[in-house]
Amino acid sequence: MEREQRPIGVFDSGVGGISVLRELVALMPNENYIFYGDSRNAPYGIKDVETVRKLTCLDAEHLLKQGVKALVVACNTATSAAVDELRIRYKNFPVIGIEPALKPAVAVGQHPRVVVMATPMTLREEKFHLLLSQYEEQAAVYPLPCPGLVEYVERGETQGARLEAFLKSLFASFSKVKVDAVVLGCTHYPFVRAAIQKVVGEQTPLFDGGAGTARETKRRLQAEGLCNPCGQKGTVIFQNSLESKEILQLCSRLLHNH
Ligand code: DGL
Repeated sequence: MEREQRPIGVFDSGVGGISVLRELVALMPNENYIFYGDSRNAPYGIKDVETVRKLTCLDAEHLLKQGVKALVVACNTATSAAVDELRIRYKNFPVIGIEPALKPAVAVGQHPRVVVMATPMTLREEKFHLLLSQYEEQAAVYPLPCPGLVEYVERGETQGARLEAFLKSLFASFSKVKVDAVVLGCTHYPFVRAAIQKVVGEQTPLFDGGAGTARETKRRLQAEGLCNPCGQKGTVIFQNSLESKEILQLCSRLLHNH
């Protein structure tokens, strides 16, 4: 098969990266995709960085073995732990990562208060601190580690009283602070966007990096002459380390119902 016609490999620690996949499909519907979720090992964000680096490299290998033409690391945690390593291993191969969408959030006003929800690892790693240093004079940025939230999405619990109570407890320390913007710095969180919106208030804008990552992927494919010339709608194949029917059903629900 010609290289341009090969699928794009997209992966995450679990099902969260489907929030990036849906942006990719919306932007480049004629491409073919293989989405791999490592739900067996999720969550990554509370593990140590060496373990996540190893798991991320295995995820990438799983897709590369299938002949993908590019890799999208649809996971903030895996990007912060291992995207540099992947780029060293696979030189001259397009590897696109994701980072918390701080840029548009900081632009909501004059020195806004911005909460960045993400996994403990993303917020701890150097990549986030470098990103923060670009914006800390323009905004008051509050990192909010959210251990436990990924698990709600992994079991398909994307709404309801229990989830809202959990989110309220995460945001308890901001009850007296006027928050101007919230960054969803983990690809699982867009699936609980409505519940987050309810807890932080309807007027607070929420930002995620899915659409930006999709645009960056398109730019990279164009730059390398790798866009699929076929004009027809492409395919999406889901694969998951859990190999259960339930997880594949959840993947397809998340892609189509949100
Ligand atoms: N979806 C991943 C992210 O964007 C993290 C989930 C996890 O902790 O496994 O950070």
